[in-house]
Amino acid sequence: MENNAELVKQRYGNPFEGVRSALDRAASHGYDSLTDDDLFMCKWLGLYTHRHEKGFFMLRTKQPNGFVTSEQLETIADIAEQQNKGFADLTTRQDFQLHWIHYADALGILKRLESVGISTQGACGDVLRNVVGCPVAGVDRTEAFDASPLARQISDFFLGNPDYADLPRKYKISVSGCREQCVHPEIQCVSLVAIERKADGSTELGFDLRVGGGLSTQPFLGKRLNAFVKPDEALEVVTHITDIWRETPEYRQKRHHARFKFLIHDWGLEKFRQALEERLGRKLDGAPSDVQDPSDVYRDHVGVHAQKQPGLYYIGVPVLVGRITAQQMKAVADICRRYGDGNTIRLTNRQNLVLLNVPESNVSRALDVLSQAGLSMNAHPVRRSMVTCTGTEFCKLAITETKMRSREIVEYLEQRVALDEPLRLHITGCPNACAQYQIAHIGLMGSKTKVDGQVVDAYDVLLGGQVGAEARFNHAVLRKIPAADCKYRLEALLKAFTKQRKPGEPFNGWCARVGDAKLV
Ligand code: HEM
Ligand code: SF4
Repeated sequence: MENNAELVKQRYGNPFEGVRSALDRAASHGYDSLTDDDLFMCKWLGLYTHRHEKGFFMLRTKQPNGFVTSEQLETIADIAEQQNKGFADLTTRQDFQLHWIHYADALGILKRLESVGISTQGACGDVLRNVVGCPVAGVDRTEAFDASPLARQISDFFLGNPDYADLPRKYKISVSGCREQCVHPEIQCVSLVAIERKADGSTELGFDLRVGGGLSTQPFLGKRLNAFVKPDEALEVVTHITDIWRETPEYRQKRHHARFKFLIHDWGLEKFRQALEERLGRKLDGAPSDVQDPSDVYRDHVGVHAQKQPGLYYIGVPVLVGRITAQQMKAVADICRRYGDGNTIRLTNRQNLVLLNVPESNVSRALDVLSQAGLSMNAHPVRRSMVTCTGTEFCKLAITETKMRSREIVEYLEQRVALDEPLRLHITGCPNACAQYQIAHIGLMGSKTKVDGQVVDAYDVLLGGQVGAEARFNHAVLRKIPAADCKYRLEALLKAFTKQRKPGEPFNGWCARVGDAKLV
């Protein structure tokens, strides 16, 4: 077989046990006792080797549905402080990513996380990644219903399950009841979106099933399978879908083709549906024909919002580029204890966080303290919407530095461009698309170019992406703009937009009307 990853997985056995014993051995025998197989399989416990520093890892947690307690947040903050640099990153799958984890400390840190209920099993690797769900599930006044118990049930079933520890490649599921579809069902391998089915004067709650979405170098939007999945059959349906994926050997032949989206694309919906129904031993119900996609641009739950529980509010806090300091995490945990319900914090898939259950009388004090901690709610659209991947700071696959550049671009634009139109700006350090650049109105994708004979970071600028109604990926309009010049090009672009747009015209509408050649 030409796919070496498959051979490694076969000979390694249970990765969750194998990696632990390898780390245990390394703690006494040194880093070099870790084999190439160990280092590859470390991902199954959320550990990726750092790009620059031998012996250090980044560590990703799993926070199903983005759920976090104050104790968990404080623990992450403590680890971040003790591991030297004092920060963590919030990720697009509602997780934490810690850096500077020394190999000799890794097992102790995993135990510490487990002691507060955080698992890292399957945060990376060829498994079901974190199950994403709406961060305001259960409190959102407009949600179809609270789907978070199902998200957690699915997560629990697959978590550390050795039968599902060797999928052909990474695999992603969302389960949500949110009308904004904040979890981006369009780009998940499998998504369950809560819907209502009306028949004979009664309303039944269930899920609309989509399959085959995903980004990376060949992006696909998920397709509706035209199936209405009842909550009590959802785990069964998801398990059978996963079994089809796990047991189709063609998708283990070539690693770059080993994604569930390719199976759906190659098979088509009819063949896939048939295979699923065969495994289920019954026909799937058809979905209602009037399922609507939302038009909301941000889908981020940022700001202060009344909950369905009278007198309570949730506060969605933008965290620039997802990077949060240990002090800020401690401040948020403290605010949650003093002004919220003491325990309920959630992470969003736009690298932000939400404080839940804040009584009305505490909202303004909570906002003051957040602002003192550098977490202000008054965010310019580019600050609010910025999503940024890891980049060369830690990622071995990166072409460009991302987090600092994104910060610089935001700080520049918010001083110079008055913008009241919501739009998304996503910056990613290579075509793998961890910052989901294809679904942004403005996506920057890392590359290199030469300036005065020197190789420098550069970005392709892609315009016109969106999710929801009329979902589509953006396309490249500028190539290889030196990274240092991007802020000027974006300033010119956004100023032209604010000047030329017709009343109420959205950014993508303006781009399409003006045409690529005249845009930049
Ligand atoms: C071939 C390699 C890779 C591909 C194709 C890839 C692709 C992606 C994609 C498409 C996402 C989108 C988010 C989503 O799941 O909805 C994602 C998430 C992410 N990627 Fe990557 N990625 C790769 C390697 C890496 C590496 C090496 C790093 C960092 C060292 C990284 C960091 C992240 C992070 C932090 C997230 C958020 C995910 C989470 O919390 O589970 N990725 N990746
Ligand atoms: S998009 Fe590329 S650079 Fe950014 S984290 Fe993913 S693999 Fe690394």
